[in-house]
Amino acid sequence: MRKKKVLPIPLDLIEPDASLDDLREAVQQCRGCDIWQRATQAVFGEGAPGAEVMLVGEQPGNREDLEGHPFVGPAGKLLDVALEEAGIDRKHVYVTNVVKHFNSTTRGKLRIHKKPNAEEIAACRPWLEAEISRVGPKVIVCLGATAAQALIARDFRVSRQRGEMMKSPLAPLITATVHPSSILRAADEQSRHAEMRLFVADLKKIARHLPQSALKRN
Ligand code: URA
Repeated sequence: MRKKKVLPIPLDLIEPDASLDDLREAVQQCRGCDIWQRATQAVFGEGAPGAEVMLVGEQPGNREDLEGHPFVGPAGKLLDVALEEAGIDRKHVYVTNVVKHFNSTTRGKLRIHKKPNAEEIAACRPWLEAEISRVGPKVIVCLGATAAQALIARDFRVSRQRGEMMKSPLAPLITATVHPSSILRAADEQSRHAEMRLFVADLKKIARHLPQSALKRN
């Protein structure tokens, strides 16, 4: 009888002494859920190993999937502008996602973003925990409901609880704000500007908890 091939899951791939670079390489082999079948590659987090701030999004988008880097598409560009306006030095920020592969469905030739389900998020969690333990951020910032519900509480409501600073077993402080892509989807220019102002205000609040070294000198 032909033996069924056992595909590697995070438990097989995460060595206790692995560095961030080792993890970034190992995650490419991960078959912990099925999303890899539809993705070009896994997209691991990036940033300084000792970054004070870790920003956690949902999953890589189309551009990130093709380029292999997190937050390089339109949402990432908006995030860069907001961090700059909030005075947070990008060099002190680590960006990542709760799920490391781009989950999509196809419509014609287009690949459309598909929210990862609870099982997929749980399957990918060891990678995020490994990143958190290597980076050791002072503050984790969940961008959007998927990250906030995975890392803070299942019933977390970004609309009501954004900007609240909480203690967490994952880091000294954890908080959540909107996902930058929600600002890009705003109905008109005026509401987009208003949403952007609130987003920058949330980031400025986070900046108050950071050491001077993580802030931009003007
Ligand atoms: N949206 C995310 O949540 N993460 C990315 O890396 C890009 C877009």
